[in-house]
Amino acid sequence: MVYRPAMKSIEWLGDKVQIIDQTRLPLEEVYIETDSYLEIADAIKKLRIRGAPAIGIAAGFGFALGARQFKGEQRAELDRQLDEVAALLLSTRPTAVNLSWALNRMRCVLNENPHRSVKEMKELLLDEAKKIQSEDIETCRRIGQHGSELVPERAGILTHCNTGALATGDYGTAQSIIVTAHERGKRVRVFADETRPLLQGARLTTWELMKRNIDVTLITDNTAAFVMKQGLVDLVVVGADRIARNGDVANKIGTYNLAVLAEKHKIPFYVAAPISSIDFQLSSGAGIPIEERDPKEVTEGFGKRIAPHGVHVYSPAFDITPHELVTSIITEHGITRPPYDKTIASLRSPTKV
Ligand code: MRU
Repeated sequence: MVYRPAMKSIEWLGDKVQIIDQTRLPLEEVYIETDSYLEIADAIKKLRIRGAPAIGIAAGFGFALGARQFKGEQRAELDRQLDEVAALLLSTRPTAVNLSWALNRMRCVLNENPHRSVKEMKELLLDEAKKIQSEDIETCRRIGQHGSELVPERAGILTHCNTGALATGDYGTAQSIIVTAHERGKRVRVFADETRPLLQGARLTTWELMKRNIDVTLITDNTAAFVMKQGLVDLVVVGADRIARNGDVANKIGTYNLAVLAEKHKIPFYVAAPISSIDFQLSSGAGIPIEERDPKEVTEGFGKRIAPHGVHVYSPAFDITPHELVTSIITEHGITRPPYDKTIASLRSPTKV
């Protein structure tokens, strides 16, 4: 079976970037075209582009646009402007480590070429942004190939949030495993959590899987335990926004619930992520910054008020799943198993960052 690409989250059009506005999907396919790093920063902040690897790719292009917007000829001034560009992009979302990882790569290109002209740097930085994107596509493909080995014939698969092409360069992370298993004829059935409060599962995951003719059933987040109890789920697979050295995983709020439920029902709980989502600086998940979202996303999500005015709201966008609940972590290098404090260290790439 031939892989049919879904919508590209971000594309370089020769002189500007095109982003599909994920806040409008699936009902409207609206594209944003921009040559401004400010708009890229805004798009990341407002989740028009989202998902850890896609955020990193967008940051790379944002940095390259920041260089292209520079009108002077002095290298020192360009570098100073790019410090500001990087600081702004970095401030957009705190949890996905792919953002700082991509910005570090861009900065490395600057630092490794101190004698190049402004004009040359503009080209080199754009090339690096494109490289981050193309490498991520290959990375996701490999994650799918490795992870699909873990998927039994006719498996019921529960997933959370959106980890598909929209959230990455292409293919996805957790979703790449699902797609590859499907392509290999394993006849999988997917349960997609709706993923409150912004409904990335209901809006994006179902849309992507349906485009690929993969059997997907939408469930509310609080249905997960019941479908497990009914024996409909053979494995859970989710993505990650940041993984600590000990295997603790930050991912969309509600992921931890699933891991606890999976353990209770003796169902394997897999995390799929590129190495760029591993924070080798952090010894445990306790140090991962967790983004808190606007209470309005809970009290009046999608424009309809549903809770009393003045109610207190706590809305973390991510939670931390402790490593002992994670059966395996699938990266582009293969399947990593506990003890993670030893196995994750061996994944560290000697290049960059
Ligand atoms: O807030 P979001 O939509 O950016 O959160 C995305 C997730 O939590 C994904 O599961 C994660 O980034 C993995 S992406 C392939």
